[in-house]
Amino acid sequence: MTKVLIATEKPFAKVAAEQIKGIITSAGYSCVFLEKYTDHQDFVQAAKDADAIIIRSDKANQAVIENAEKLKIIVRAGAGYDNVDLQAATAKGVVVMNTPGQNSNAVAELALGMMVYQARNHFNGSSGTELKEKTLGIHAYGNVGKNVARIAKGFGMKVIAFDPFVADADIKKDGVEVVKTVEELYSQSNYVSLHIPANEKTKNSINYELLSKMPANAMLVNTARKEVIDEAGLKQLLSERSDFRYVSDIAPSNTGELEAFSSQLFFTPKKMGAQTSEANINAGIAAAEQIIGFIEKGDITFKVN
Ligand code: 3PG
Repeated sequence: MTKVLIATEKPFAKVAAEQIKGIITSAGYSCVFLEKYTDHQDFVQAAKDADAIIIRSDKANQAVIENAEKLKIIVRAGAGYDNVDLQAATAKGVVVMNTPGQNSNAVAELALGMMVYQARNHFNGSSGTELKEKTLGIHAYGNVGKNVARIAKGFGMKVIAFDPFVADADIKKDGVEVVKTVEELYSQSNYVSLHIPANEKTKNSINYELLSKMPANAMLVNTARKEVIDEAGLKQLLSERSDFRYVSDIAPSNTGELEAFSSQLFFTPKKMGAQTSEANINAGIAAAEQIIGFIEKGDITFKVN
């Protein structure tokens, strides 16, 4: 029997898990959950006899892939697949997919929520500022960036974007202004919302030099990946500019060194951009259906390796 393993250290909402299981078992496959595991070796063991695996930010590394004797497909229920060893998967003939767009509204809502929370001084009762009429720069105009733009416009923000991989016309039709360089984006934006993936080109790319270009009372919003931030550069900037604020969906690695700047910062305790029932249902069901489509019909839409 085809076995689908759902390995989620951070589980899907119960309602989503039930629906995912229903889809997989209706296809005649077995569905096994490994949730809230604390030892990565448990994932390696559970994957040993799996034909297909659904993960979230779980590390599908070389050990998982090489030990999984029957493995044919891994689907990352979500957008970023920097947690999958694509080289190891390709070498073993394992197809890797993501589920683009399925959790993007949830992530976008969190970005705006964190902006309001920080602009209102952590809701501590003191006088804050409003988003209306401020400029929001969207760094990468993919599914999340597009949703952030839509919601920000509802707040009355001016929205500009930088994305060399998206046609200008596709950005402009959303009423968003296109800027041609990353430097322009940062120098013109009161807020910058990051939506770049973490890869060899982008890691540490959001550095002191770039952030220094932001105007007074600027805020950087990170619902992407902590690895894209040059953390030493960010710390330097925070120490020089008490007006600069950073909010992020997951704390930086050097959080311990940032205590002195706590009023300028907000970090979620665990990555929670996609932690909504709706996002879990959308991404989880898409993942289950993609596995069935691949096993039954060889459908490789959304293959990333
Ligand atoms: C994504 O890449 O889709 C998001 O970062 C969500 O990650 P999560 O599934 O671990 O919440």
